[in-house]
Amino acid sequence: MGKLDGRVAIITGAARGQGEREARLFASEGAKVVVTDVLAEQGQRVAADIGGTFVRHDVTSEADWAAVVDAAKAAYGTIDILVNNAGIYRKGTLRNTTLEEYRFVVDVNQVGVFLGMQAVAPVMIEAKRGSIVNISSIAGMLGTPVSFAYGASKWAVRGMTKAAALDLGRFNIRVNSIHPGLIDTDMMTEVTGGEEDRFERMQRTVPLSGRMAKPEEIASVALFLASDDSSYATGAEFVIDGGVIAQ
Ligand SMILES: NC(=O)c1ccc[n+]([C@@H]2O[C@H](COP(=O)([O-])OP(=O)(O)OC[C@H]3O[C@@H](n4cnc5c(N)ncnc54)[C@H](O)[C@@H]3O)[C@@H](O)[C@H]2O)c1
Repeated sequence: MGKLDGRVAIITGAARGQGEREARLFASEGAKVVVTDVLAEQGQRVAADIGGTFVRHDVTSEADWAAVVDAAKAAYGTIDILVNNAGIYRKGTLRNTTLEEYRFVVDVNQVGVFLGMQAVAPVMIEAKRGSIVNISSIAGMLGTPVSFAYGASKWAVRGMTKAAALDLGRFNIRVNSIHPGLIDTDMMTEVTGGEEDRFERMQRTVPLSGRMAKPEEIASVALFLASDDSSYATGAEFVIDGGVIAQ
């Protein structure tokens, strides 16, 4: 028996990286998965592999969110799980981030999560159950001077998670955040500028074995939060960072 038998999950940004691993893991645990992303070709491939549904989806668009909810309901009847995973990283300090860059990062990482929670809430309220997993970052727990907009957006995700958990608890809907540390995905190439040395230097700062995480190591925590294994967890922060912020 799978941990998500009979459950329907929407996972954003699931064409690659952590979202892709979550889609594959959730499907292997019995979930029907709606894979969404702006990357249509890769997203379609993931959905086809796992017998799920792909929807091309920009998380900043309210109309796209309505289409995703409609597609999930049409294909599978309901929505039990939402993983707000889509995100972008941009470098830039307070002093050199333009308003346009700031708004772009906040739009994807913060407004996208707001729209997602708002779009699925009515369906989950009707079903009287649901689990929403918001992917923040350790950048939502610390000051991040070199990625000012990214840090601001991830702090917002942490705060919205708690407010939504308090609001939706009466409907048996749980809302939690995951705070990954350094994860070896395409986003890390953006962070390191593709420099091998930089990647190695960053890895060495991780207390747990001096290594970055594989995306699977976040997917397993997302599965825990999506499933009944975490039935009493809500409004909580799950830091998965190999000890980085314990220092
Ligand atoms: N990689 C890390 O070290 C790290 C650390 C902490 C948190 N995170 C967070 O984890 C999440 C997943 O990132 P990842 O590491 O798998 O990186 P990734 O870049 O491989 O994946 C992000 C996915 O989001 C999609 N996406 C971007 N903008 C979108 C939009 N507007 N609408 C829909 N989809 C969009 C991308 O196409 C991509 O498939 C992100 O929220 C990221 O901020 C990553």
